[in-house]
Amino acid sequence: MRLVLGIESSCDETAAALVRLHADGRREIVAQRIASQDEEHRPYGGVVPEIAARAHVERVTPLVAATLGDAGLGLGDVDAIAATAGPGLIGGVMVGLVTAKALAMAGDKPLIAINHLEGHALSPRLADPELEFPYLLLLASGGHCQLLRVEGVGQYRRLATTIDDALGEAFDKTAKILGLGYPGGPAVERLAAEGDPKAVPLPRPLLGSADPNFSFAGLKSAVLRARDAGVHEAADIAAAFQQAAIDCVIDRSRRALDAAGPVNALVVAGGVAANKAIRAALEGLAGERGLRFVAPPLPLCTDNAAMIAWAGLERLGAAGFAPDGLDFVARPRWPLDPEAAPVRGAGVKA
Ligand code: KG4
Ligand code: ZN
Repeated sequence: MRLVLGIESSCDETAAALVRLHADGRREIVAQRIASQDEEHRPYGGVVPEIAARAHVERVTPLVAATLGDAGLGLGDVDAIAATAGPGLIGGVMVGLVTAKALAMAGDKPLIAINHLEGHALSPRLADPELEFPYLLLLASGGHCQLLRVEGVGQYRRLATTIDDALGEAFDKTAKILGLGYPGGPAVERLAAEGDPKAVPLPRPLLGSADPNFSFAGLKSAVLRARDAGVHEAADIAAAFQQAAIDCVIDRSRRALDAAGPVNALVVAGGVAANKAIRAALEGLAGERGLRFVAPPLPLCTDNAAMIAWAGLERLGAAGFAPDGLDFVARPRWPLDPEAAPVRGAGVKA
């Protein structure tokens, strides 16, 4: 039985969690707390890095203490401390990582520096102990849109990435264009449910292309033009945008499945995985291919610390585990697949 404390601070959520791996393989989120910064960033329509970093400083220590308190545990009870060490908004990442280093030093515990993307990539295994490697993962968040063959802990083969905007970013920009406020993804999804996706013709960038990657910038510009035309209902634009995005995601995922070789499941993770229409479309594709479809429960899709603690547990249990040094430096960029060729625009943000 092992217990890991996880800390997440790479964007606009300060989060702490305690996750236990039982001897029989059961995974248990013992306690978790998330302090959202939506209120701080809302006036600006997006995350302001400096405001985020300051908010993390104020919140992280009391949050860790409260999470341990919720579980009735102390630092002495944990086996390791895992923290997001990148990629992300560097000020926030440094706050969480330095906190973890201090706790590791004070408690004489191993430090595990986690790649935030690895947290998302392994999060489906926290919720579903039956999910075995390898699986094809659509990792779609505010800063990333990638298709990865997840082959094991620390082993990721990138099959596609975005050449411009991330999928969550496209949702957020559409929300801004339609005046839906921040955060945008859930607001676009809600409005889309009331609209007719066929009422507004929008492009499907790269659909059917031999290029494996994603592109969403043209779609966003088309949303802007549709709004400026002044003849469409906002709900119809939202529905048409969401459907265009889904068509692109399914086309690209189908292509990646063709290229991936054998996999055990089609999996979606990252904040955009909270979108029910996208989940349903991916589930349909998995069914078409006779594959299992796995999506973590909604609170595990958006940024959280349980996935960071879980990635720590996975690393702790992997062959050849060695703790990270207290000199580990926070990384603004940190590709999961270092062999994949860099693509213009990909991974510009978190
Ligand atoms: O993984 P995440 O919480 O943070 C990053 O690491 O980026 O993802 C946040 C992104 C945002 O762009 C947000 O708009 C999007 O996920 N998102 C959604 C939904 N919920 C969150 N996008 C579409 N539909 C949703 N329901
Ligand atoms: Zn994330």
